[in-house]
Amino acid sequence: MSNIITRHKKLERNVTLLAVFAFVAVAIGGIVEIAPLFWIDNTVEKVEGMRPYTPLEQAGRNIYVREGCYTCHSQMIRPFRDEVERYGHYSLAAESMYDHPFQWGSKRTGPDLARVGNRYSDEWHVQHLTDPRSVVPESVMPPYAFLANTDLNTGDMAAHLKALRRVGVPYSATDIAKANADLVLQADADADPGDLVARYPKAQVRDFDGDPARLTEMDALVAYLQMLGTLVDTQSTAGQEVRSPGAAR
Ligand code: HEC
Repeated sequence: MSNIITRHKKLERNVTLLAVFAFVAVAIGGIVEIAPLFWIDNTVEKVEGMRPYTPLEQAGRNIYVREGCYTCHSQMIRPFRDEVERYGHYSLAAESMYDHPFQWGSKRTGPDLARVGNRYSDEWHVQHLTDPRSVVPESVMPPYAFLANTDLNTGDMAAHLKALRRVGVPYSATDIAKANADLVLQADADADPGDLVARYPKAQVRDFDGDPARLTEMDALVAYLQMLGTLVDTQSTAGQEVRSPGAAR
């Protein structure tokens, strides 16, 4: 026993030796914490219904990020009773697996938007984004009326999808080739959307901003909002033991 103490004394009195041993101890701790992240794919359970965003939804998402909607809105329903009762089924890990960057947010000046899709009409969203206080008098949300007057940039979606594919979003070669066309088609109620809905199940095809003559940033943002939380059928998956990591049950 005293032998161990004398040996440990040596370690404590030799700065270099102490540094080497401290490094080894910290490295072991680091490996234990970091190594599992290399297999992170395994910790995100596949959930039926989750698919990459359509080019129009993706364009709307870009506007959401550009305008900083995440500074007031979260997109993650935590597994607490009060949140689930207000917003719906708690968010599953897979539901944000194609988000680059994710929009979980850290502040809720406004409500969580993870399941806002299909909760309001397109007209409500357009009216609300144009002038929030005209529908919610006590709202502190800023108006975004200019979105309805700003033409959507339609030219660069292919490059955008390609970049997303590089970080793991499974867009097919067809998705990328048709990206710019898909973008326009999804917001055109009169055009034939072709195989758009087959490639992107549950994609909503219509004019979103109430102005069929123009494709605006409002079209894209409303298309994105109307999709949020609608892809995964949480009613049926909840019974199949689909859990997000750390979710209390
Ligand atoms: C300064 C903070 C703030 C910013 C920035 C903001 N919002 Fe809001 N938002 C709110 C507040 C507060 C409410 C609740 C009152 C209301 O409905 O207007 C709200 C409500 C909403 C709702 C209705 C949600 C529901 O379930 O009733 C939607 C949709 C929404 N915001 C979308 C957006 C989008 C999209 C952006 C970015 C273009 C945005 N918000 C930016 C504060 C903000």
